Amino acid sequence: MSGRISDVLLSNLNEFISEQMGLNFPKDRKRELAKKIESVSREFGFEDAESCITWLMSSTLTKEQVEILARHLTVGETYFYRDKKSFELMEEHILPELIRSYQKKQKRLRIWSAACSTGEEPYTIAIILSRLILDWRDWNITILATDINPKVLKKASEGVYTRWSFRDTPSWLKDGYFRSTKEGHFKILPHIKEMVTFSYLNLVEDTYPSLTTNTNAMDMILCRNVFIYFTPERVRKIVQRFHHCLVERGSLFVSATETSLASHPRFVMVNGSGTTYFKKEGKRAGKKSLKREESFSSRDVLTYPSPDKKFVSITPPSQPVSEPEIKVEVPQVIPQKSGEKPHTKESKKQPYEKAVMLYQQGRYGESAEILVELLSKNKRDTSVFPYGAGISFLIRSYANQGKLGEASTWCEKAIGVDKVNPGHHYLCSTILQEQGRIEDAIVSLKRALFLDPDFVLAYYSLGNIMLALGRLEESRKPFENALEILSTLPREKEIQESEGITAGRLMEIITSMVNMEILA
Ligand SMILES: C[S@@+](CC[C@H](N)C(=O)[O-])C[C@H]1O[C@@H](n2cnc3c(N)ncnc32)[C@H](O)[C@@H]1O
Repeated sequence: MSGRISDVLLSNLNEFISEQMGLNFPKDRKRELAKKIESVSREFGFEDAESCITWLMSSTLTKEQVEILARHLTVGETYFYRDKKSFELMEEHILPELIRSYQKKQKRLRIWSAACSTGEEPYTIAIILSRLILDWRDWNITILATDINPKVLKKASEGVYTRWSFRDTPSWLKDGYFRSTKEGHFKILPHIKEMVTFSYLNLVEDTYPSLTTNTNAMDMILCRNVFIYFTPERVRKIVQRFHHCLVERGSLFVSATETSLASHPRFVMVNGSGTTYFKKEGKRAGKKSLKREESFSSRDVLTYPSPDKKFVSITPPSQPVSEPEIKVEVPQVIPQKSGEKPHTKESKKQPYEKAVMLYQQGRYGESAEILVELLSKNKRDTSVFPYGAGISFLIRSYANQGKLGEASTWCEKAIGVDKVNPGHHYLCSTILQEQGRIEDAIVSLKRALFLDPDFVLAYYSLGNIMLALGRLEESRKPFENALEILSTLPREKEIQESEGITAGRLMEIITSMVNMEILA
């Protein structure tokens, strides 16, 4: 590789990878970027780095390009039980509290390890949960683990590790949850492996929260040791999206070095047990929520083991809470069978538009309140506002708050009003999946496909369910169907009902999932 990369090209490249992958190389790391991009160029088979940069920047990055860039530009460094204090806090306080609150009724729990690398973090969570919940098989537990790099995801889904992954890990974890292999490696026990779902997700893209990416209504998000690579502006946007992804009182964990970077006015920062995390508090963080937090901590200390580990302080939002500036993609919904008439009555259109706006801002509770009133008052009068779209927003608003009972009731109503709307059946299937009613979800998806044989997300969802059930063979056909339809669409076309996923991206996601399963 010869020749020096011009400063202008390097700056342009930095801007490009920041936009596409969130990664940022400030001025003092320019030489490092130049070195790394030279090895990227070699891997792509270019004679010189400048041609490679020009080629990369000529269009949106493909998954293969992202994979190679991610491998060279980021560090996938991770290990089991990394940052002990955070895991102890989760194990001794946060998870027991969550388990208690869901024990009687829903028996559901949703945790997301965003930027999970080779899987040590989500598997640690799975192990902890299996120890805390004795009847965990009767629960509907989601541990979603995502990353931008398909290579690390593949390794994660294999679940085989060397000693290095246990370098600062309590011995009970390796001894109790892994089997030694002939090669001297350690393979995670199948029942722990099954608790975690791995999937591709680029934190820079707008695909969360979404029922399609299963990133809605999370109780806890871990996004650790990745913000250090991003610009502060990018981190702010991601944290804001995480806020939308969490249920009320849900928590966000970042690494100790990223705490100040991730600090956001919509979260309350909780310091304690030698660690810090962020909590989604009330409609708006503020004085009131601070009080609630104090009572939570004192009850916590009384009830849980290790009473010595007290929360020491709660930091209120540092600035006045402002409205979010980012927008959540508005789902494109399939109109009612008769075609929805244009809105004519201006006075009644306004609340609907307000509800949509609140939804976009992640204020799902307020959005639902307006929609329930509108839908109850106006029954099936589509001249007032798009009834089908309204009902779809309401179901999503409930689902995003984890209110599955309400979402399910409105799914039944939606189908009662318009049985032949494939979008309603699809939406119902996502709620049924979240409720753990998998066979019913399959029936709903088949109905959606009967009504619309080109419904790409329904095929995708069916393939996912089959994969999760370990029915690999049965996942092939729906994935193939989805890929076939996607190949006929423009790459940038947004997929109906997907809340922002484009045809090109979905194609790449399916391909990498199929590869991951086949190769695992
Ligand atoms: C150091 S690892 C963190 C692993 C784990 N969270 C931990 O703290 O041990 C950073 C991970 O972030 C991933 N990553 C980088 N940019 C990303 C993006 N835009 N979206 C999703 N993941 C990303 C990398 O692929 C890498 O696996």
